[in-house]
Amino acid sequence: MTRDISVELQNVDKIYDVAKVVDGVNLSINKGEVLVLIGPSGCGKTTTLKMINQLIPHTSGKILVNGEDVTKLDPVELRRSIGYVIQYIGLLPHLTIEENITFVLQLTKRPRKEQHEKALELVEKVGLPEEFLKRFPRELSGGQQQRVGVARALAGDPAILLMDEPFGAVDPLTREQLQNELLRLQEAIQKTIVFVTHDMQEAFKIGNRIGIMKEGKLVAMGSSMEIIKTEDEFVQNFIGRGALFDVLDNIPVTRVLKKDVPTVREGDFLNRNADLNGWENVFVLDNKGVCHGYVPLENLDSSGKITSDKLLSLSGSCPPDLSIKKAVEEMLYGGRTWIPVADSNDIFQGIVTFDSCANLLSEEGGK
Ligand SMILES: Nc1ncnc2c1ncn2[C@@H]1O[C@H](COP(=O)(O)OP(=O)(O)OP(=O)(O)O)[C@@H](O)[C@H]1O
Ligand SMILES: [Mg+2]
Repeated sequence: MTRDISVELQNVDKIYDVAKVVDGVNLSINKGEVLVLIGPSGCGKTTTLKMINQLIPHTSGKILVNGEDVTKLDPVELRRSIGYVIQYIGLLPHLTIEENITFVLQLTKRPRKEQHEKALELVEKVGLPEEFLKRFPRELSGGQQQRVGVARALAGDPAILLMDEPFGAVDPLTREQLQNELLRLQEAIQKTIVFVTHDMQEAFKIGNRIGIMKEGKLVAMGSSMEIIKTEDEFVQNFIGRGALFDVLDNIPVTRVLKKDVPTVREGDFLNRNADLNGWENVFVLDNKGVCHGYVPLENLDSSGKITSDKLLSLSGSCPPDLSIKKAVEEMLYGGRTWIPVADSNDIFQGIVTFDSCANLLSEEGGK
C-alpha cells in the first residue's frame, strides 16, 4: 500500500439476511482526490459510504483508512476523524450556528477561544457572513444550512470527508453555487472526499474520478472521459446521451491549448516562405505579450515586413478557464475554426482549434 492512498476497500461485502447489498467492492481513494459514487437508487452507495466510517459494519473484506484496518480502530475516534455531510443536514435546532459548527470541538473540550476562532474561519470559508454565527438553523435557507453542514464537517480538520447527496435537496441554482464553492474550497483544503450523488452532471463537475454502482457492484471507475468511453451497456444507458457535452463543459480549454503557434512583433521581418511547422498564420504581439492580430503567411509581401495594415483582427479571444464546450459553441456560432486564448491581463496564451477539441475524445485520460 502506498502512502498516497487514503481509503481502500478490498473485496468488501455487506449482507443483510440473505441480500448482498454491497458485493465485492474494490476501491482505492487517493489523498486529496474527489471520488464520486453514483448509481440507481438502492445500488449500495450510502451503505458503501457508511462502511468507511463504520456507521455500518461490513460483512466481509477489508477497509483501510490511512493504511489501518477500520475494525481495529476505536469507532468513536474513527468517526471523529472523518467529516460526514448528508442531504438533510441535521443541524441541531436549539443550538446556534456557531455551536453547531463547533460541536465536535466541544465534545473534545477544546478551549473556547479556539472554538470561536475555528467557527469564524469556517463560516467565512463556506461563504457565509460572520453574523450568521449567532443565528439558529431555522433562520437560514436550505442552501445556507447545507453550507453550515460542510463547515461543521470540517471543524475537526478531518483529512477525509464523506458527503452523501449533500446538495440533493436544494434548487438547481443553489446547487450549482454550492458545487462551485466546494470546488473552490477543495482547491484550498485538498481533502480526500467521497461524494455520493444521483446527478451525473454533478459527478462530472465535482469528481476527479467517478465510480458507477449497480446492484451492489462497482461496474465502472475512472475519469469523466474514461467513464463516457466505457462500452458497457448499463453504463452507457445510465449516463445517457449528451453526457459528452456535460464532460466537455467541465474541461477548460487549457487542456487543448496550442501554445506553439508562431508569434512575431510588429515591425519584425518574416520570409513568406518560412517553415512555421505547418502553421499558416503568425500572431503579432506587443512588448507585453498582448496580441493585436494575426497575419496569414501568404499575405506577406516580398519585403516580409510585419506592418499594422497587414494585421487581421482576432475577433475576440476567450479566457483560459472557458470550458471546451463553450469554446466549441463560440466557434460554431462564429463560423470559426479556432479562437485565441488570452489571460485576464490580455496576455496571449495560444489558440484553441476545432480539431484539437474533437481529438480530445480519441485521447487517453480525463480531467
Ligand atoms: N438495515 C437494512 N436492512 C436491510 N436492507 C437494507 C438496510 N439498509 C439498506 N438496505 C438495503 O440495501 C440496499 C442499498 O441501500 P443504500 O442505502 O446503500 O442505497 P443507495 O444506493 O444509497 O440508494 P439511494 O440512491 O436511494 O440513496 C437497498 O436495497 C436497501 O433496501
Ligand atoms: Mg443513499
